[in-house]
Amino acid sequence: MAMEKLTTVNSVRFRVREARAKGLVGLVPTMGALHEGHLSLLRRARAECATVVVSIFVNPTQFNEKADLEKYPRDLARDLALCEEAGADLVFAPETDEMYPEGFCTTVTVDGPLIRVLEGAFRPGHFAGVTTIVAKLFTIVQPDRAYFGEKDWQQLKVVERMVADLNLPVAIVPCPTVRESDGLAMSSRNARLSPEARAQAKILPSLLDSAQEMLDVATFASQTDHGPVLAQWLGTLLESNVPSAQVDYIAIVDPDTLEGVDEISDRALVALAVRIGGVRLIDNRLIIRHR
Ligand code: PAJ
Repeated sequence: MAMEKLTTVNSVRFRVREARAKGLVGLVPTMGALHEGHLSLLRRARAECATVVVSIFVNPTQFNEKADLEKYPRDLARDLALCEEAGADLVFAPETDEMYPEGFCTTVTVDGPLIRVLEGAFRPGHFAGVTTIVAKLFTIVQPDRAYFGEKDWQQLKVVERMVADLNLPVAIVPCPTVRESDGLAMSSRNARLSPEARAQAKILPSLLDSAQEMLDVATFASQTDHGPVLAQWLGTLLESNVPSAQVDYIAIVDPDTLEGVDEISDRALVALAVRIGGVRLIDNRLIIRHR
């Protein structure tokens, strides 16, 4: 069956209702400007579900900076072609009015430390925008499974929390981060990097790898197994390699609660947000303590 592009809530409900008899319905929420990271989620959904819905909607409520929203790359024709090639059945690409009609005034918020740290501390209101739109997409599509990238680890944890707290009948499927050949995490924002900034940006994944290496050494030296010490050391390493980089945060946190960890026992998450050449990039990786 050919892929179908839908723009209204009612048409999605109608098509998904028809499709449900065939088996599992999978949803891949995106903001478009699709790359291999998004497509890996789509392919995973294709492998696991009878019907695959991709949503493409640049959600204004999750942008805390107007300029970031305006500069966000958009290319629906290209995105549709990529979705079709990767085997999507339905693409839901609504206009802003369809999702936020006149009079809209409800917000779904996960309220707790989970949204106050890391991205939440630097992007006020961001997660409320994310959970509101994701909750709307879940009630519109009513998927059995929804696919989220570990690239946005905190977003994944916040969505998991919302689903648990509201008993939403959807299974969240985490998918590994897809990277460029030099390790840079794929992101729609990478297109905004100048060639110089792009070359500098590869320091970010190597910082994450250095964190693991330091932990391996620390297991013998018993020194840098201390979260704040390790984070500070990574900051110094970044500064000496890319002095113009501006750090929002480099943190060693508990992978589930996102609270800062002191002693790294079994595993921890290294999470960072850094501006390089004016573009804000985020990345993370789990580090494991091998004993
Ligand atoms: P967007 O940034 O378009 O990302 C859509 C999905 O693709 C997210 O789950 C994100 O984690 C995943 N993704 C992005 N880059 C990835 C990579 N390099 N590897 C693996 N997965 C990757 O995240 C959003 O949109 C929005 O906040 C959204 C959830 C759609 C709500 O508006």
